[in-house]
Amino acid sequence: MVNNPYIEQVKNHYKILTNLEEIYSIKWKWNSFFANKNPIILEIWTGLWNFFSKNVNQNLDKNYIWMEIRYKRCFMTAQKTLWKVKNNDNSCDNTKLEKYNNNFVVIKDYAEKINNIFDENEINETLIFFPDPWARKKWLKKRLLQKQFLDDLYARTKINWKLIFKTDHLGYFLHVLYEVEKTKWDILFKTFDYEKQWLYESDAITEFEQIFRWQDIKVCYLELIKK
Ligand SMILES: C[S@@+](CC[C@H](N)C(=O)[O-])C[C@H]1O[C@@H](n2cnc3c(N)ncnc32)[C@H](O)[C@@H]1O
Repeated sequence: MVNNPYIEQVKNHYKILTNLEEIYSIKWKWNSFFANKNPIILEIWTGLWNFFSKNVNQNLDKNYIWMEIRYKRCFMTAQKTLWKVKNNDNSCDNTKLEKYNNNFVVIKDYAEKINNIFDENEINETLIFFPDPWARKKWLKKRLLQKQFLDDLYARTKINWKLIFKTDHLGYFLHVLYEVEKTKWDILFKTFDYEKQWLYESDAITEFEQIFRWQDIKVCYLELIKK
């Protein structure tokens, strides 16, 4: 018997979707769900909330969808994101708060289910940062970024939009580069040490990346585009 206090909290949270029938019924209607035509940014294997909540609050002209499977992380992320809204907004202008609240949602489901959740050409940008590398040889098939998943994501991405991937695991990075070769994605940018590049912003990193920075571990970065 699982005794997880977050299960009920997640099920009752208005910013978290857990009912699979409901989630899958939104397929092809995400812009209607957000009630605007703004770009849809998908963050999967998200983990914790700092990076996500910051993005949500700083980019009101984008819609954010967050996918994670752990109850506590779903709940904390939704709460922290709403909390940040209230605390950053000194004016407490209700119209503004409503606008903030409308630009994100948390989905509690597996990343592998994207075909059930999104239709073709529905996502603008996908962020996948530090997924488990499943480093042992017998686990390699468990890696999320395989040809099939990359193909599925490609089909679901709008033309001229991107997939951004980061990992500290060189083996996983090389594996992804190999898999990408078999797909229609174009490589826009790749580096084995992106801290050296202009695109690194120290205040826009995830919790896992913070740990790697402290340990001085190099981070590999890949930006793919659908042309
Ligand atoms: C390594 S952590 C995430 C790191 C985070 N992106 C960061 O950079 O701080 C991996 C997260 O992915 C979640 N996860 C694992 N398998 C998943 C799956 N199949 N679908 C969605 N999330 C998953 C785990 O619960 C965990 O919170």
